[in-house]
Amino acid sequence: MPDETTLQGTPRQPEQPEQPEQPQKRMTATAVQMPGFSQRQVVRIREVLARVYALRRVTRFYPADHPARGLAVDDALASLQPYFDEGVDVPLLFSESELFLGEQLLAEDSVLFDQLIRDLSALGAGSITFEKGLTAREVRSFTDIIGARPEVVEDAGGVPAMLAAADVDHIRVTEAFVLSDRAEHDLDPRKSAKAAYAGALDLVRELDHAITAGQSLSAPRIRGAVKSLIDNVTDSRAAMLELAGLKSHDEYTFYHSVNVAVLSLALGSAISHDQRFLATLGTGALLHDLGKLAIPTEVINKETPLTSEEWDEIRKHPVYGASMAALTAGLDRGATVIVLEHHMRLDGAGYPPHPMRRQHISSRIVAIADAYDAMTSKRSYSDAHRQDQAIEVLMSSASAALDGALLRVFVRLMGLYPPRSLVRLSTGETAIVLASNEGDITAPLVRVIADAYGAMVTPRDVDLSALGRAGTSAIVGCIDPGTLNIDVGDFL
Ligand SMILES: [Fe+2]
Repeated sequence: MPDETTLQGTPRQPEQPEQPEQPQKRMTATAVQMPGFSQRQVVRIREVLARVYALRRVTRFYPADHPARGLAVDDALASLQPYFDEGVDVPLLFSESELFLGEQLLAEDSVLFDQLIRDLSALGAGSITFEKGLTAREVRSFTDIIGARPEVVEDAGGVPAMLAAADVDHIRVTEAFVLSDRAEHDLDPRKSAKAAYAGALDLVRELDHAITAGQSLSAPRIRGAVKSLIDNVTDSRAAMLELAGLKSHDEYTFYHSVNVAVLSLALGSAISHDQRFLATLGTGALLHDLGKLAIPTEVINKETPLTSEEWDEIRKHPVYGASMAALTAGLDRGATVIVLEHHMRLDGAGYPPHPMRRQHISSRIVAIADAYDAMTSKRSYSDAHRQDQAIEVLMSSASAALDGALLRVFVRLMGLYPPRSLVRLSTGETAIVLASNEGDITAPLVRVIADAYGAMVTPRDVDLSALGRAGTSAIVGCIDPGTLNIDVGDFL
């Protein structure tokens, strides 16, 4: 765990002037509230789903004035009434092929009512909430709307607009959850990558807010952000890896979480295209430091040496995070394992203690991504390593702390001079690495920004691998951007 320990497992001991302690109370992992539907209410929802499905079917088989429609409306209302009598509304959410009652994943019902999910999704509906006070007239109007053809609904402005026009106040429908902005950005992978990165960053901010407020975490939101990252890493790995170097001192944990997710997915997608594997990996990577959000920021960002109590608390963050992930209804269970294991080391020196347990391959991937991003970030207690230095340190950690085979794949993806590295070329020119070249880890695609005399030039992109071994231009080494007062991001 490179951000609190070295790769040799030594706790960090920064030597900085002591700062006044201003402890800020935050919610602990165990204080996060969980969804409030009882087991009985969850079981009973199958009846509601069957009745809603029947509503849609009757519009296909019977004319508007047929008594069967009236019966279906009465049955639907009757199935909802017990919830209203118990003082709760009935929120049904759809996410891809999964169905939720509030935050509760309805695993079996997702399969049983697959057609209903697809029908409602086709109408652009992402959730339906039946609220107390619902009347038969409103259910009738709702039936007419969900029985309409998708193009008719679209022409009418969507289901929410149609409900409003029909004065239906006790059925709320939200639009389908947008899993990614791919359609909008399909033609520009860099725009799409930025949208996915920003979406994941927003999600982590939301999670932080939810934990502070003691609210439950939204599995569908997490799933959507991860799906978007997977799509973009699969479509344009280079664009995503370039973004994975973004840093923020003030929001270190947020950016770090997204960077680790991107780096992990890049590595994961290089060894498998299995979508379930990638979804679990991306979720675990994005949430790997979730437990830190439950620890006071003063401890996380402390510049002075940690007390043994503070250190003990920080070492609990994988357990805190795994506990929060495990208690989040509908969240991928495999991701919980990754959160728990991301600081376990191959040689058993990590934490939490894991005698006889070998890190899962996904956890080993996240450990590599975590180590790389932490080392290349400036922290309150340490300067950032240059990217090439970080790669060197990682390679020296293979077999003890990190999985050597996975590490070799990671280095092949990142190159010896990873994206966003500032480099000096053999011509004396200064350049920024845009993308690595898997065929030759020493010869990436670069953007030349200054000539041999240090004068800024109109940026031009050069593929160093295309120049061949006898080419006149090669990377001599990395430069610390701070020494040239250059912000790499200005040139990307
Ligand atoms: Fe961590």
